[in-house]
Amino acid sequence: MGSLSVGSGVKPSIWAGLALILSGANAIVMPRGSTGKVPSLGWNSWNAYHCDIDESKFLSAAELIVSSGLLDAGYQYVNIDDCWSLKDGRVDGHIAPNTTRFPDGIDGLAQKVHGMGLKLGIYSTAGTATCAGYPASLGYEDVDATDFANWGVDYLKYDNCNVPTDWQDQYLACNPDFVKTGANGTCSTALEPTLAPPGYDWSTSKSAERFGAMRDALAKQSHEIVLSMCIWGQADVFSWGNSTGISWRMSNDISPEWSSVAHIINLNSFKLNSVGFWGHNDADMLEVGNGNLTPAETRTHFALWAAMKSPLLIGTDLAQLSQDNINLLKNKHLLAFNQDSVYGSPATPYKWGVNPDWTFNYTNPAEFWAGPSAKGHLVLMMNTLDHTVTKEANWSEIPGLSAGHYEVRDVWTDKNLGCLSSYKAAVASHDTAVILVGKRCRNY
Ligand SMILES: *[C@@H]1O[C@H](CO)[C@@H](O)[C@H](O)[C@H]1NC(C)=O
Ligand SMILES: *[C@@H]1O[C@H](CO)[C@@H](O)[C@H](O)[C@H]1NC(C)=O
Ligand SMILES: *[C@@H]1O[C@H](CO)[C@@H](O)[C@H](O)[C@H]1NC(C)=O
Ligand SMILES: *[C@@H]1O[C@H](CO)[C@@H](O)[C@H](O)[C@H]1NC(C)=O
Ligand SMILES: *[C@@H]1O[C@H](CO)[C@@H](O)[C@H](O)[C@H]1NC(C)=O
Repeated sequence: MGSLSVGSGVKPSIWAGLALILSGANAIVMPRGSTGKVPSLGWNSWNAYHCDIDESKFLSAAELIVSSGLLDAGYQYVNIDDCWSLKDGRVDGHIAPNTTRFPDGIDGLAQKVHGMGLKLGIYSTAGTATCAGYPASLGYEDVDATDFANWGVDYLKYDNCNVPTDWQDQYLACNPDFVKTGANGTCSTALEPTLAPPGYDWSTSKSAERFGAMRDALAKQSHEIVLSMCIWGQADVFSWGNSTGISWRMSNDISPEWSSVAHIINLNSFKLNSVGFWGHNDADMLEVGNGNLTPAETRTHFALWAAMKSPLLIGTDLAQLSQDNINLLKNKHLLAFNQDSVYGSPATPYKWGVNPDWTFNYTNPAEFWAGPSAKGHLVLMMNTLDHTVTKEANWSEIPGLSAGHYEVRDVWTDKNLGCLSSYKAAVASHDTAVILVGKRCRNY
């Protein structure tokens, strides 16, 4: 059924059901997946702990997600990243949890996490080994998907390391994190001789086949597991990801510094056409609480990730997180925009600001963003410069709005700013002003 489903534009579980009907198998036909219409919210171990994980870290994260109110705010997943299994190889054909780290196995942890009202995620790789060198799932998709389902796992982060020669793609896609680019982030065969020819159908690539094999294996399970593809924006996943998983990484890894945040915003700003219900560009896990991000940079990072409708996976030790940052992660207006069930599209740039519109620039990406939601238009004005700048949101420049007075709310303070004909704010270096532009005011 691999060839049937690849590039179909239809969600995996539907194809699994169809394939079972067509083959006449007397198996449970899974309903259409119920999860993944809007971006996933949760926590993942990697940015906080890398390989230094054990059950207690997941239980403590789970307890803090509940006690800090993050679960009530919508954060549901507790996700295990790399390094959870025995490293040397499979045991009787299966990936075996390291029971020094996980004394009750992954199923035992899943039970405890589910008992707290949360969901559990696990990690594997579409290669011969995971990125940290542990057993991976290429060629073992059915065995591993069945184990994950039997353990009660709800989410799979599927990585892209150690792809053997015979599984490598014929061509390179234009991904500025991995190929040489010219002016404005453009690719050419002059710079990359193996660049795919124009019109190449990436849904027929080996990458699509590797990730599609896991999609098909997960779709056969009676316990729903969503597929999150950690494919780094390679193989033009933007054109086929929506027929394979619920989200796909759009860049190389994030790091906890401003240059990385601005870099990802620039890349993603050109790739937002592939974002909508059931399919989301993953701008990578949050660095809120990590590295040397200032409070202003942390606000911008979270606001833009929420506005671009990226999955929001917290990646820090919650016990060390400041109350300000917990409040940031719980910002009800940004979460409502990210999780909107009426409007599936992300906010997009309506004006670049420092640079001319449509300029591809890692240090000074688009600064003026807006997008509609059930509660009104979210409008963001980011300052990419190193000094305070007064910025103005002019309604007639924003798609969906026009000149006149609108009810405006400050997303950071939750203060009602009244009926405004435009909104002006002094935005500090690397900070972002965010407002919600609601109903048009009468009597003006
Ligand atoms: C299992 O985890 C323990 C504790 O982290 C570690 O010392 C050990 O090397 C791991 N065993 C294997 C086989 O990976
Ligand atoms: C993804 O596919 C679903 C159908 O399964 C469709 O409703 C949705 O609009 C698609 N999203 C994007 C961004 O193409
Ligand atoms: C950059 O590329 C975009 C297309 O993605 C194009 O619309 C725009 O004109 C280009 N900008 C410049 C400055 O070349
Ligand atoms: C990015 O934009 C800034 C501001 O216009 C400019 O100074 C810088 O040279 C640009 N970077 C590149 C690599 O073009
Ligand atoms: C608002 O935008 C419109 C359209 O670009 C423009 O004509 C007008 O001068 C702008 N107003 C202000 C105050 O910048």
